[in-house]
Amino acid sequence: MSRRETIIILDFGSQYSQLIARRVREAQVYCELIPWDAPDERVLSLSPRGFILSGGPASVYEPGAPTLPAYVLQSGMPVLGICYGMQLLAQALGGRIAPAIEREYGLAKLTLTSVENPLLPALVPRFSSLILPLPLSVWMSHGDRVETLPPGWQVLAASDNSPVAAMGDLTRGRYGLQFHPEVVHTVRGQEIICHFLYDVCGCHGDWTPVSFIEQSMATIRRQVGNGHVLCGLSGGVDSAVTAALVHRAVGDRLTCVFVDTGLLRRGEPEQVVETFERAQSMRLVAVNASEEFLDDLDGVTDPEEKRKRIGERFVRVFEREAARLAADWGEIGFLAQGTLYPDVIESARRDEHGAARTIKTHHNVGGLPEEMGFELVEPLRLLFKDEARAVGEALRLPEEIVWRHPFPGPGLAIRVVGEVTWERLETLRAADAILLEELRAAGLYRRTAQVFAVLLPVRSVGVMGDGRTYAHVVALRAVTSEDFMTADWARLPYDLLARISNRIVNEVPDVNRVVYDISSKPPATIEWE
Ligand code: XMP
Repeated sequence: MSRRETIIILDFGSQYSQLIARRVREAQVYCELIPWDAPDERVLSLSPRGFILSGGPASVYEPGAPTLPAYVLQSGMPVLGICYGMQLLAQALGGRIAPAIEREYGLAKLTLTSVENPLLPALVPRFSSLILPLPLSVWMSHGDRVETLPPGWQVLAASDNSPVAAMGDLTRGRYGLQFHPEVVHTVRGQEIICHFLYDVCGCHGDWTPVSFIEQSMATIRRQVGNGHVLCGLSGGVDSAVTAALVHRAVGDRLTCVFVDTGLLRRGEPEQVVETFERAQSMRLVAVNASEEFLDDLDGVTDPEEKRKRIGERFVRVFEREAARLAADWGEIGFLAQGTLYPDVIESARRDEHGAARTIKTHHNVGGLPEEMGFELVEPLRLLFKDEARAVGEALRLPEEIVWRHPFPGPGLAIRVVGEVTWERLETLRAADAILLEELRAAGLYRRTAQVFAVLLPVRSVGVMGDGRTYAHVVALRAVTSEDFMTADWARLPYDLLARISNRIVNEVPDVNRVVYDISSKPPATIEWE
């Protein structure tokens, strides 16, 4: 198998490290984000075409600060250091770093010091032109700066507070940027990244959905041999793409199990069966276990207790189905899961630095325990969510599945705040369906990251006709987000909100008030529980 072009991003702890990886992947170049102190052999076994050094919170001159691994410079490969990464490069090669006179945080104006600027070739005409001598807006976030360049390096750009805002050793293909090209606020940042990948590292861009599908089909076939695979379908994009990929690789030796927990959105169970069994011709076992889930939730109001009970019940239902299928078809040795790259990075970080504090237990309900004795098949472990979607499109999954907003494993149980009953679930489903219908009609579904209704555990007084009402309150939540770690409330148009509110109070029995959640994350979370 031909080796794919790989760029290594060494992670020095920047909040933007994953973003760098996503930008490189967007440029169709495969990359891996690896801790700066990972063993040399692990990094070098990937035969990188070049290195990107991320930013980080430390100062290079502090005792105990992360250091530049020797193999980076010894390899002779191109290097792009960003922020802390640039300072490390400068220090390792004989330059000097000192605290900046003023910290620079946010937008800064960059001026190019050389018209023949090799780092930003795409920008040169614009800057050399007398008509457009505009400085370039870039995103800065640093307290230190390069005071003295290493021998053989030249300054490529400066800002008010950073006389060396970009620097290069052109003969060796080594560059340093004090600003963050990966952040959207940096104008033409992606062009700078592309220039490094294509012109400096010599990549061709072989990381495409089609090449990924071909390679992972071969890998799945090798792993599974003649065995049987089980896959839990949730209706979300990750498990859908996993199932479609494994199905393409092993055909009818894949069986999908879909558990209707009774906690799904309106129409979802039917849609999953329609899409996977009928349209995709997969072997699908649909189990309706609503009653069991609702019995477990009887009287439970604590969000973590809800998650725990749902997770346990899910495992029990799944185990039962797996045993039943094994009795029919013989042993099933493999379990396919839609684990994505951010989960892989996060769990590696947690292993290194001890358990992170639990805000919410976010294990997917489909995240089944290892003791179940299956070997895991995780074809998406190297993909970001947008890449998983691109693969889903290339596999011709329907748009409603590929572009579906994420849905939490515990489902509507954590959107019915307080006690979960069938009646309250039905009220929520009705309001939620109106919200989504109107959002889609306004063409805003793809422009928002997650939109849903929440049923609150309070009643409020209202007036309908001439009578007093005392009924439920529904909250609407709509957010924009790149990675769901942070989110902002979506500025939905007032007339859309008015239409939704009007329809909900008129069409959903026993709801007389609708409120719009205008909290960002942090300090709020996306879900209410
Ligand atoms: P929060 O509410 O923490 O959610 O801002 C961030 C993202 O995670 C989803 N979420 C969950 N997903 N099991 C899941 O599989 C869970 O228990 C869970 N809780 C929250 C949430 O919908 C959002 O996309």
